[in-house]
Amino acid sequence: MTAALPTSATVAVIGAGAMGSGIAQVAAQHGHRVQLHDTRFGAADAAKRAIGETLAKLVAKERLTPSERDATLARINTVGTLADTCVAGLVIEAIVEDLEIKRELVALLENVVSPQCVLATNTSSLSITAIARGAKYPGRIVGMHFFNPAPLMPLVEVVTGLATDRAVAETVFATASAWGKTPVYAMSTPGFIVNRCARPFYAEALRLLAERAADAATIDAVMREAGGFRMGPFELMDLIGHDVNFAVTKSVWEAYFHDPRFTPSVIQQELVAAGHLGRKSGRGFYDHAADAAAPSPRTEPPAPRPSRIIAHGDGFAIAALADRLVAANVAVDRASADAPFANGVLQIGDAWLALSDGRTASARAAATERRDLVLCDLALDYAHATRLAIAAADGCGDAACFAVVGALQAAGFAVSRFDDVAGLAVLRTVAMLANEAADAVAQGVALASDIDLAMQKGVSYPRGPLAWADALGVRTVAAVLANLAAHYGEDRYRASPLLVRRAISGAPLNG
Ligand code: NAI
Repeated sequence: MTAALPTSATVAVIGAGAMGSGIAQVAAQHGHRVQLHDTRFGAADAAKRAIGETLAKLVAKERLTPSERDATLARINTVGTLADTCVAGLVIEAIVEDLEIKRELVALLENVVSPQCVLATNTSSLSITAIARGAKYPGRIVGMHFFNPAPLMPLVEVVTGLATDRAVAETVFATASAWGKTPVYAMSTPGFIVNRCARPFYAEALRLLAERAADAATIDAVMREAGGFRMGPFELMDLIGHDVNFAVTKSVWEAYFHDPRFTPSVIQQELVAAGHLGRKSGRGFYDHAADAAAPSPRTEPPAPRPSRIIAHGDGFAIAALADRLVAANVAVDRASADAPFANGVLQIGDAWLALSDGRTASARAAATERRDLVLCDLALDYAHATRLAIAAADGCGDAACFAVVGALQAAGFAVSRFDDVAGLAVLRTVAMLANEAADAVAQGVALASDIDLAMQKGVSYPRGPLAWADALGVRTVAAVLANLAAHYGEDRYRASPLLVRRAISGAPLNG
């Protein structure tokens, strides 16, 4: 196994902004002398002061001793010129995201550092291959993509361009591990792993909002409380900043030659145009003023408990819902399922409740001749989810809808009713996340296990999308995508060839 950069080696960090200062802190905390450089006058010194304040907080929380803090700070030197980085064994650049400026920096550095020095870039969207073009030694140029804030986020994508030497990538990988990070290898392709595979998390939510399926607060609540995501997509976009999030989406879309799977959202474009950038501007999807009311999701008012329910079939969702009803002392009779509801259905009086499969409730009501049909969304874990989204067929009577709401409330769910869109929030998001991840695997961007790891460590997903698809059944996910594609008639929902293959063979995506 290739060794990490020894702690005796100096690490130069170029660019002392949000990312550079975090990376400098990480390297210094792991024993390296760090030379921090920024062309903006005073920026490197300000970053060092800010690192000192961060370390002081860690001392106050007893996560660092005062002597460790002093030693870490003493290892960070701010340097006024690039020439001062000449002794570095590793340079990590975190300057402005501009290809020409990054290339110029590589050229300047190559006149300063030794031919053995590794040149790593923290770029989040530029091609490593393109940055390395024209370099004297392109083999030493590698992506070392940290996530914000670098001291806290565990993931580092080690990105190889066409020219990157394997040994260089392995050194950076081992170094990131030695720094307590979770590195994964990725091939230089637009968005690498996380910025590509996370696009559907935002895109599907924006799509649901555009179709007026539900409002932002309701979709966020469902994604958190049923999907198990730490933050909902809209609150996360508000946190990231719409300018940044929109720019990433647009750059991935453009880099893939306008593949409809990545098409940006007009809603987000309008927010950017208005300067409603999220938390940093005080307003995005939500009002972030100090006195603003907390967003409140739409939740159905209390409905009466059912006295008796029939659970047809034992599909995982219906079985889990039946178990929760039994635990809540609702009488549940078990029956076998008939063909149109092979995955099970709950019969609550005249109403029928089934798990969404990517079709609208109206389409399924027509296909099954059950007018009073309500569909529910996927949950990460039905046993512990606290909210569930539902959608009723157009012809479903109010009494039937009320009966379903009452049953789910009796089982302990807050219920959010969506308009009857194809595929509810969690289901369509998970299907599209898995689809994108499968395509990244198929194209050799990264290993399936690394993609799942990256999505958990880089964006804190509760489960890797490929493992999630395996748990649902790849065939089920393929059917959801096929139903979405048929409903919308758009290439956006086309299934990845790998996902289709695994759905047929039954082999897992992350096995
Ligand atoms: P930032 O704007 O906070 O900091 C960039 C710093 O680089 C500024 O202090 C600027 O004065 C300095 N700089 C610009 N050109 C320079 C040059 N030629 N030589 C030396 N210093 C120069 O930007 P941030 O957010 O830290 O991003 C830096 C890099 O990290 C970009 O490539 C970005 O795409 C990437 N990145 C950003 C993440 C984020 O969440 N902010 C996450 C992961 C990667």
